[in-house]
Amino acid sequence: MDKMRKEILFPRDAIQRRVQEIAGQISVDYKGHELIVIGILKGAFIFMADLIRAMSIPCKVDFVRVASYGVSSESSGKVVMTKDIETSIKGRDILIVEDIVDTGLTLTYLVNWLKERNPQSLKVCTFLDKRKRRKVPFEADYVGFTMDDGFVVGYGLDFNEQARFLPEVYIIEQEQVEVRG
Ligand code: IMP
Repeated sequence: MDKMRKEILFPRDAIQRRVQEIAGQISVDYKGHELIVIGILKGAFIFMADLIRAMSIPCKVDFVRVASYGVSSESSGKVVMTKDIETSIKGRDILIVEDIVDTGLTLTYLVNWLKERNPQSLKVCTFLDKRKRRKVPFEADYVGFTMDDGFVVGYGLDFNEQARFLPEVYIIEQEQVEVRG
């Protein structure tokens, strides 16, 4: 961990400000409704915890876990659900919370999976968006920050399970990512 070469990309205060803004927007958009917020494990847990505490509307929470198989930091296109939700979402307003959208494969899979349960509405909130790396078209409804290519850690995001606990977001040097896994 100490040997990981990294530079700060989003400092703590900027993250906190942006989380407040998105939470404010969600609270306006869903005024008078109770949301079911579904976090994607593991990466989204810190963002989701901050987001729901900054919202002024009630919500219930649940989690899914998905695995995507591929080499190194690339996902191959094969996404598999390894933990499903435990809440009925039929007729409910759903907000999926993700740490980062990269190729778009994970969220495309998950949105289709959850839509089959007939929610009233379904939107996606992602903390980070690597827009240029899409393999399939995907637009999140709420985006914390957009970024260019590069591998980031901190604020829930990991590199081989390291660095999730860091309160800031760091970009790590590319050659370290290439030798991953
Ligand atoms: P997608 O299916 O390619 O959109 O992948 C999304 C998932 O890939 C995220 O939930 C992360 O687990 C992982 N991921 C993509 N980019 C990064 C990154 O820069 N840092 C940490 N995890 C990442």
